[in-house]
Amino acid sequence: MKTALITIGSTREYIDPVRYISNESSGKQGISLIKGLLKKNYKIICLHGYLKVKPIISRKIKYIFTPNAKSMLQEAKKNYKVDIAIFNAAVSDFYVKSFSKNKIKSKKGLTLQLINNPDILKSICSSQKKPLITVGFAYETNNYLDNAKKKLENKKCDFIVLNYPLKNDFIFNNNFNNGGILDKQGNYYEIGNVSKTVFANKIIKHILEI
Ligand code: CTP
Repeated sequence: MKTALITIGSTREYIDPVRYISNESSGKQGISLIKGLLKKNYKIICLHGYLKVKPIISRKIKYIFTPNAKSMLQEAKKNYKVDIAIFNAAVSDFYVKSFSKNKIKSKKGLTLQLINNPDILKSICSSQKKPLITVGFAYETNNYLDNAKKKLENKKCDFIVLNYPLKNDFIFNNNFNNGGILDKQGNYYEIGNVSKTVFANKIIKHILEI
């Protein structure tokens, strides 16, 4: 049986015990991808951040909770021996330089120094010990295709799934997605505006066919 590694959901970086930096990702697209991989009879290792949807329970799925970028990278490095790796998580780009163990008292304003988190996708794809096929995601609001191409080159993955918003539509935490998939040869396959289930199945079919 083939194995897939997938990162899903949003990561958090805590400022103090009750406050954090994160993003809008719900994990819906990630769960749809897991369903699609199960249909193709894959065993799945899922590194998940925070989810707003219920995970699927199956003996074929191993869930590992990775609340922040550093723990997600650590687990990805341990689980690189897979046939396909899909990096769908919305990783918080920054962590706070000085985490406060005590709750910060409210006062006039607060300045935080933010440090760049490790790039999990790039780090795994740049390593010699890497999965057979690697897939990243790119959410872009302008120059969609150019930005996605740059991301694919920079991160050294085999495919980039491009997501871009429709006029007034916000694709995070929504049942629909919009976009397509780009490969290293520069071929772009547009999927369009479809449900996250259809989007996931089309991505998986496209990757596995190639
Ligand atoms: N990613 C990652 N580790 C990070 C940041 C992003 O693994 N620290 C992965 C995401 O899971 C996704 C891809 O990289 O597959 C692109 O994420 P995105 O947030 O669009 O890209 P960034 O590199 O953060 O670029 P920017 O926000 O500047 O567009």
